[in-house]
Amino acid sequence: MSDRSIRFNVPTVEGRELEHVAAAVRGGHTASSGPFTELVSTLLAEHHGAPDALLTTSCTDALEMTALMLDLGPGDAVVVPSFTFVTSALAYTRTGARLLFCDIERDTLALDPVQLERLLATHPNVRCVVHVHYAGIAGRIAEVADLVARYPRVTLVEDNAHGLFGMVGERTLGTYGRFSTLSFHETKNFICGEGGALIVNDEADVGRAHVLLDKGTDRRAFSLGLTDKYTWRDTGSSFGLSDMLAAYLWGQLEQRETILAQRRGVFDRYAASLAPVADEVGIRLPVVPEGRTPAWHMFHLLLPDASSRDHALDALRRAGVHATFHYVPLHRSDGGRRFAAAPSECPVTDDVSARLLRLPFHNRMSASEQERVVGVLLDSLRTYGGASAATG
Ligand SMILES: Cc1ncc(COP(=O)(O)O)c(C=O)c1O
Repeated sequence: MSDRSIRFNVPTVEGRELEHVAAAVRGGHTASSGPFTELVSTLLAEHHGAPDALLTTSCTDALEMTALMLDLGPGDAVVVPSFTFVTSALAYTRTGARLLFCDIERDTLALDPVQLERLLATHPNVRCVVHVHYAGIAGRIAEVADLVARYPRVTLVEDNAHGLFGMVGERTLGTYGRFSTLSFHETKNFICGEGGALIVNDEADVGRAHVLLDKGTDRRAFSLGLTDKYTWRDTGSSFGLSDMLAAYLWGQLEQRETILAQRRGVFDRYAASLAPVADEVGIRLPVVPEGRTPAWHMFHLLLPDASSRDHALDALRRAGVHATFHYVPLHRSDGGRRFAAAPSECPVTDDVSARLLRLPFHNRMSASEQERVVGVLLDSLRTYGGASAATG
């Protein structure tokens, strides 16, 4: 690989992450529920104005916890976007519940409230709706929340893997649902290798969430001195994040203003150089509706069609630039078909998935690296001769 290659994701140490990890090891509490977990949980709970935030081994595990919290089972259905990561859907299938794939709206690529309304009206067995804040940009989440509130049997979960610190006006993403989930996987804005969180927005859920997190036991009540022994109480698993990873994460979150500003800078520079030529080369930039503050998670473009997208990806890769596509529609995947409650049509997902391209994006990306990415992209689009050129 050429040393001028531009990687997609470059995890960076922003502050005292490694010192905190050493402190966690020296302190002797390296399992879950340690002092760094407490620091991160408190910060996340305060940011969301939530009664509690539980650190988990992944966003996937946090989503699985919501399935357990809702006691989903055979006969139940869960609405998920087709345009999302596998585990937004997979997390619900182990319970025996089945999936209804919903399409996305064209602008923000988040759940389409119109199709959601139809699904809720025609499937009385829906118990849960999962809304993904794609790229950390809020879609029509307030409408989705109002719609779900009309069906008391249905719970809203926000899969906020991309959107920590994103806002709609003054409201924090992750505060609309009864639960929301976060990811600290190495590809996300704030990382600890693998990690996640379950934001619990309803006080009534806090006690049971801790039991589920802690292998089905009431160990937390015991450590708080509320019981004189701890024992098996409920379902659950070993969902808690190691305090060594929480220590790393704490170092990242201490730098949250810096990281967000760096990422915003990368986003704005791409937007400033591509917006003036977007019509000429036929690309669409990320749409940020009025009043939304993104979490600056990624920079995604829609190209005119699938073959121009593939042509541009190829040109970028040949130039050592690691651009990439994104989600393959879940309603068409083997797993999606296997676990679906009913077949679905998701034409926007099909269309967007074929045309979407993500540019390299990381905290320390320099202006000159971005110029090179944009130069290669524009050259490839301006010299592209159409689908026959791509195949011929
Ligand atoms: C929307 C979405 N949900 C869930 C996940 C899963 O996150 P994790 O790797 O922390 O389990 C991802 C990961 O990319 C994601 O993009």
